[in-house]
Amino acid sequence: MVKILVTGGLGFIGSHTVVELQNEGYEVVIIDDLSNSSIKVLDGISTITGKTPIFEKLDLKDKAGVEAFFAKHSDIKGVIHFAASKAVGESVQEPLLYYENNLATLVYVLKELKKLPEASFIFSSSCTVYGQADELPITESAPVKQAESPYGNTKQIGEEIIRDTCRVTPNLKAIALRYFNPVGAHESGNIGELPIGVPQNLVPFITQTAIGLRKQLSVFGDDYPTTDGTCIRDYIHVVDLAKAHVVALERLLKNKNKGNYETFNLGTGTGSSVLEVVKAFERVSGEKLNYKIVGRREGDIISAYADTRKANNELGWKTKLTLDDAMRSAWKWEQKVRASE
Ligand code: UD1
Repeated sequence: MVKILVTGGLGFIGSHTVVELQNEGYEVVIIDDLSNSSIKVLDGISTITGKTPIFEKLDLKDKAGVEAFFAKHSDIKGVIHFAASKAVGESVQEPLLYYENNLATLVYVLKELKKLPEASFIFSSSCTVYGQADELPITESAPVKQAESPYGNTKQIGEEIIRDTCRVTPNLKAIALRYFNPVGAHESGNIGELPIGVPQNLVPFITQTAIGLRKQLSVFGDDYPTTDGTCIRDYIHVVDLAKAHVVALERLLKNKNKGNYETFNLGTGTGSSVLEVVKAFERVSGEKLNYKIVGRREGDIISAYADTRKANNELGWKTKLTLDDAMRSAWKWEQKVRASE
């Protein structure tokens, strides 16, 4: 079996990707420091696939620990690297924490991959690198804009670190995947998003409001130049997103890549407004959501959605699940999590 390392494999997108890798017959090793995830996720994964991945609790800032891990698992053929901190506001308050957590760790992992005879590397990047793009939908050749936050900057610099390393490392091939807005959960309800504290992202805030954990959803602004005045985003079902990681990895493992560093947008290609997301939730859940329009949130862009042609044509991948599917699964997950508490 081909052995793949998934860093941050107990997180939201990581855990869904582990499931898809196992479904495709890969042997998965997870590294996670459990700083923003729970060991219970391992059970959720095993319940879905019937297989328990190898798990090592390791903080990737522990350079010696990373070296020892790779010495033990020198047969690793590929790495999907999710492990990172992702709270935008916190990154503004604690920039060094973010540069260390997201970039020092990346360097340590790449140093180990350089030692392998051959390695494939998939990086979690974000559409945040485009900022408010001048043209929609956003293609991969749209200019990378000055980052709005240290978090966003770690994605931009992360991409540059990988690109520069690939340029001089023939045995290393990499793809950076620029995600739009990942939402939803596995349809089984066994894994999903587990935000710590008050959720900053829209969909977990909606489901937590509906279940009674939050009083009311604040919709940030209805005076934007969009159809209904609320911001537009490209919400992609996390299971579609997870599958794209497997396809991207296989492109590298089978040497189908063009050049040894590539970037792909991962989105649905369709933008939805905040109010459309709320309506989709109400439609599939049968719940009435308590929400209120409030002022704009600082730093929000008006509209972003992906041009998916490069991923569709070159990866041979496209999304299959809808926004309704995402909201249905997110709601099922929320109900299951709260029932188990
Ligand atoms: C946010 C981050 C982005 C990160 C992404 C990861 C910010 C400014 N940006 O993007 O860097 O890559 O998450 O998923 O934090 N909304 C509400 N009420 C809420 C929460 C959100 O109206 O309580 C609105 C927002 O104004 C936005 C939309 O919902 O229009 C989506 O928000 P969110 O889920 O936070 O994603 P992004 O802002 O796109």
